[in-house]
Amino acid sequence: MTKSDLKIDKKNSTAAIVCLIAIAAVFTFPESFYSQSKYKYVGVNTCVGACHKSEAQGNQFNIWKESNHSKAFQTLQTPEADSIALSKGFNAPAAETPHCVKCHTFGTEVDESELKASFDKNQGVQCESCHGPGSGYSKLSVMKDKESAMSKGLIIHTEKEKFCIQCHNSDSPTFFQFDYEPMWQQIAHSKPKVFKE
Ligand code: HEC
Ligand code: HEC
Ligand code: HEC
Repeated sequence: MTKSDLKIDKKNSTAAIVCLIAIAAVFTFPESFYSQSKYKYVGVNTCVGACHKSEAQGNQFNIWKESNHSKAFQTLQTPEADSIALSKGFNAPAAETPHCVKCHTFGTEVDESELKASFDKNQGVQCESCHGPGSGYSKLSVMKDKESAMSKGLIIHTEKEKFCIQCHNSDSPTFFQFDYEPMWQQIAHSKPKVFKE
């Protein structure tokens, strides 16, 4: 945005403010969702096909599967979710309401062309929701070298709490509180040995 774009007359200022809010929203929501990446989402089944599954590999799949993240889209397909959506003024079922879908799986903010056929949004908040689209880094030959994987789109969070609260915040109608340590302990999944240090 250039300086002259900001020189707006009164008549246009409301529209401009709405526009600025929309821009701010796009850039504050989970970076992995909105980054205009050249990589595509391959889906959790691709991530765990040969890797990230066994005890020796770090058991990430089972930890995720047993967590509520894997069920997050099913949660939206319940009468309870629909009545929450209704109470927030949305007229469509929760699973079809972009405001709800954006935190519970991928929504309209991700273009269909960014999803490979193997990606299934019924699988809720997936590996790639947090680690970035995997088409570039999912190959074992790339994944073996963490730096190379990161240069091909893998996201490893250093500011973990900051990342979590992009979804775990009062924008969630059922939000109560987010206490990072115990919450991370519920989903903690460690590093497998195949990574090169
Ligand atoms: C893309 C949005 C998103 C991000 C990012 C996210 N979560 Fe979640 N999380 C959810 C949703 C949605 C649920 C609720 C799923 C359900 O109940 O169906 C949830 C549920 C959970 C639960 C289960 C809590 C319960 O009482 O049911 C834990 C634990 C959790 N998240 C931890 C974390 C941690 C730790 C992070 C950061 C490392 C994180 N989440 C990042 C969306 C997200
Ligand atoms: C809710 C967000 C979230 C989901 C879903 C998620 N992860 Fe993670 N993952 C994290 C965070 C945060 C870390 C911690 C980064 C760190 O170690 O500092 C992490 C760490 C890891 C690590 C260790 C990386 C390292 O070098 O330290 C691996 C491997 C991993 N995740 C794989 C997976 C796989 C495979 C899935 C899907 C089955 C998955 N993750 C799902 C957030 C998530
Ligand atoms: C900002 C992200 C976000 C948005 C937007 C969001 N949710 Fe959630 N939702 C979450 C998280 C995170 C959880 C886990 C509990 C918590 O901390 O709120 C959750 C949990 C839930 C639960 C399970 C509650 C429970 O206690 O088991 C339902 C139902 C739900 N959301 C419905 C909805 C509906 C309906 C909408 C749209 C009107 C919506 N959510 C919008 C993030 C979000």
